[in-house]
Amino acid sequence: MCGIVGYTGKKQAAPILLEGLTKLEYRGYDSAGVAVSDAYGRIEIAKAQGKLDVLKEKIDGGKTMHGACGIGHTRWATHGVPNETNAHPHCNDDSTIVAVHNGIIENYAELKAKLIRRGYQFYSQTDTEVATKLVDYYYKKHGEPLKAIAEFSLRVRGSYALAVLFSDYPEEIYAIRKDSPMVIAATGKECFLASDVPALLKYTKNVYYIENDQIAHLKNGQTSFYNIDGDPVEIPLTHITWDAQAAEKDGYEHYMLKEIHEQPRVIKDTLGYFIQNGKIDFSELNLTDAYLKSVNKIIIAGCGSAYHVGVAMQYVIEDLARIPVRVELASEFRYRSFISDGKELVIIISQSGETADSIAALREAKSRGLKTLAIVNVVGSTIAREADFVFYTKAGPEISVATTKAYSAQLVAGYLIALKFAEAHSLLSDGQYRELLSELCLLPEKIKTILEKDTAIQQFAFHCMDKKNAFFIGRGLDYAVSMEGSLKLKEISYIHSEAYAAGELKHGAISLIEDGTLVFGILTQDELAEKTVSNLEETKSRKAQLAVVAFEGTEVPKSCECVFYVPRTDARFAASLSVIPLQLYAYYLSVSKGNNVDKPRNLAKSVTVE
Ligand code: G6P
Repeated sequence: MCGIVGYTGKKQAAPILLEGLTKLEYRGYDSAGVAVSDAYGRIEIAKAQGKLDVLKEKIDGGKTMHGACGIGHTRWATHGVPNETNAHPHCNDDSTIVAVHNGIIENYAELKAKLIRRGYQFYSQTDTEVATKLVDYYYKKHGEPLKAIAEFSLRVRGSYALAVLFSDYPEEIYAIRKDSPMVIAATGKECFLASDVPALLKYTKNVYYIENDQIAHLKNGQTSFYNIDGDPVEIPLTHITWDAQAAEKDGYEHYMLKEIHEQPRVIKDTLGYFIQNGKIDFSELNLTDAYLKSVNKIIIAGCGSAYHVGVAMQYVIEDLARIPVRVELASEFRYRSFISDGKELVIIISQSGETADSIAALREAKSRGLKTLAIVNVVGSTIAREADFVFYTKAGPEISVATTKAYSAQLVAGYLIALKFAEAHSLLSDGQYRELLSELCLLPEKIKTILEKDTAIQQFAFHCMDKKNAFFIGRGLDYAVSMEGSLKLKEISYIHSEAYAAGELKHGAISLIEDGTLVFGILTQDELAEKTVSNLEETKSRKAQLAVVAFEGTEVPKSCECVFYVPRTDARFAASLSVIPLQLYAYYLSVSKGNNVDKPRNLAKSVTVE
């Protein structure tokens, strides 16, 4: 949700800022801007409405701006329509203080009124212009950037990752964050700042994650950190294992296709890391058997696809480990006064580890004294830092807004957690345990065979270009996958789509089925398949067009126009296979409609606002 970058060093800043923003464009792409300061503190600003390419063209790839220090921003609009005036950076009246911001200043209206009373004028509708002018106000009062930023942080409510240039301090950047991500790096010659690691990978893998309300000062290739009292603080260096190549397209037309094809490797890596000598090894997580035994209920919270993983995990954990599981949308969880006996484990699932609602759910759980386990992809992210236990998925950087490989890695994390609980509660014989682990280890090869059938899926997707409505239906785990298939389709193809528990369709939504409505059935749960087939037939009688994803050997309705068989596996792990054709289907449909697959309209990958 908005990406910010900063650079100070010896090179021209603008091309480096644009390159960094390219890596962060998944966070927002309705406008972009950069500000560059020269050695005398003269700050020049360039902004453009629309995708980053528009800005790149406007400033000729950065060549028209001169200076070795700067900040940049790619926006996902919150306050104010996406236009050039509302685009960041924002500045004070004489452009001597310039800032970019990711987050939301909740009390911006009150602060704006106060600043207007003190003679400030406003030109944009943004909360960021208010933030910038508030820093200006305190800078004029204290005459010191550090004090100005510290007082700013005391006056604002909300979230912010704020990077500021002061023309009195040429070639230096000041930054502060609260509940919005920020990583900082220094190489001795240059300093970098960004909302996310991919923007820095080309330059370094050693980064600093600053905590809430810590201030960073970037100067002469070195960084210093302070608390809001102005006292220096030490921040540990975190080493990132991802390489820069992992954040490139590698010859694929889109990141999404590349990431779909990376899934066998991602699953293999995640399994390989946590299965040691034929046993699940959670020593890194510090989850002891004694603790696992003491858990009497699990609550899972997440947003979007992460929530869908939670829905799938619910079935798997309850079945394997016999522990009651409740799945919550993270955005709802924090506002419900749930009843707790203090022994629940709250699992927060999040690729980015920065989703505002998921962070809030985690904090709510902690404030109730509950233990929290995070399933997170991004090392050092807020959720990873704040949770009691962390399961890092090994998906590597995911760039496409619509998640695929992170979803698959989270599913595998869910299977391992379910099995670990089952083991701790002595619910599996050695033979069953071994069999389930070896079944898991076969998933990557099975996914490869599905990916090879890509052409059939592509052809069917092209036939569906004009569809207006689609339903994805299934029962049990197939319902969990239906939710993800439906979300993928609507996110990137803009076709209205709903997921329904197959048995529920007849209680209302069936009234929407008409000639040609696409109904996708998922059939991997053998004992439920017949019933879902009946539900599919009911829609066929109302002239729906049927498609099915099914385990090999499943009886499917004869009237299906398209059947994608996937190899069999243990039914509890089926989601890892049945989701693949659905991802490919959504991808090819989006391509055939000429949509921007990796950056679908109105969306952002990391939603850091509530
Ligand atoms: C956004 C993304 C989704 C993602 C959700 C949760 O809505 O577009 O793909 O599932 O956020 O993100 P998280 O990083 O918490 O998994």
